[in-house]
Amino acid sequence: RPRVLSGIQPTADSFHLGNYLGALREWVTMQDTYECFYSVVDLHAITVEQDPELLRQRTRVSAAQLLALGIDPDRSALFVQSHVPEHAQLSWVLECMAGFGEAGRMTQFKDKSSRQEADHVSVGLFTYPVLQAADILVYQADAVPVGEDQRQHLELTRNLAQRFNSRFGKTFTVPAAHIPKDTAKIYDLQDPTSKMSKSVPSGVIELMEDPKRSAKKIRSAVTDTGREIRYDVENKPGVSNLLAIYSALTGQSIAELETAYEGRGYGDLKKELGEVVVEFVTPLQEKVNAYLGDPAELDKVLHRGGEKAREVSSQTLRTVFDRVGFLSPL
Ligand code: TYM
Repeated sequence: RPRVLSGIQPTADSFHLGNYLGALREWVTMQDTYECFYSVVDLHAITVEQDPELLRQRTRVSAAQLLALGIDPDRSALFVQSHVPEHAQLSWVLECMAGFGEAGRMTQFKDKSSRQEADHVSVGLFTYPVLQAADILVYQADAVPVGEDQRQHLELTRNLAQRFNSRFGKTFTVPAAHIPKDTAKIYDLQDPTSKMSKSVPSGVIELMEDPKRSAKKIRSAVTDTGREIRYDVENKPGVSNLLAIYSALTGQSIAELETAYEGRGYGDLKKELGEVVVEFVTPLQEKVNAYLGDPAELDKVLHRGGEKAREVSSQTLRTVFDRVGFLSPL
């Protein structure tokens, strides 16, 4: 079976609707056709300062949300990145093949680092995308389900894989980004021209927040001038974002929704989308809390996932170390 690898950072108390619709929903369905490796990427999280206790807690909360959303640990390897040392080991080799300029062109690095003085930007933030490439390549992944914002990191991953292969012989599968068509970028409800993101919390729907609060955020979402409910990203970014979310959560097509809301106002759309979101998150939160109620069992699931992951990652790393000319340690 072809393979999938993807990861998510444990840097917030909750995933948001953008994470779910852009990536996690695909993680769940891809389990039917792929052999899947899904990681809570705590090594990536510490590229910016983290409180240790909070990081531990958020790593468990992340894993619990993934299980509640439908990641099945019997079918997929669900694990914590720091439990699998091969990620960091392969990353070093790839760092030695990545260009300084190449890494410097990553737009996420440029965005994140431009907000701070150079000495407050860690070297880890700079090499972050190379570690991401190692995450993917160490499993020989064929496909990587992510949102639009990860496209450039996937392009770097492909380039590094091809560079290694042409220098040392075919070693890595060159992975393809798997980016959903209609929900690759979910926008902030208060600023529907920028992406929903945990660093700008105003218009973000968190899966673990009080559902009433989510409904309220949707009711006060920024909409556009005019009154017509029509999907038109250029002229009606706010309404289009709400329609994309509505469609993804209910399975109704955008065209069906446009027809259903013909002659009705933005208020109706927002109120009813609020109800859709409440219905989605309420049972989800119950499941998450049940997983969090038994942290020992949760840790056991993650340890099992880590072992499954290492069966593959250790093989790849052995081949890589051999190809680059390291003496066998055995
Ligand atoms: P992270 O933790 O920021 O986000 C997890 C996933 O959510 C997607 N996403 C969105 N999709 C649509 N609309 C949005 N507004 C939105 N916001 C976030 C992201 O595209 C991502 O797929 N670098 C990665 C983590 C990572 C990784 C990997 C991913 C580390 N190693 C290996 C894939 C493969 C990141 O920061 O995701």
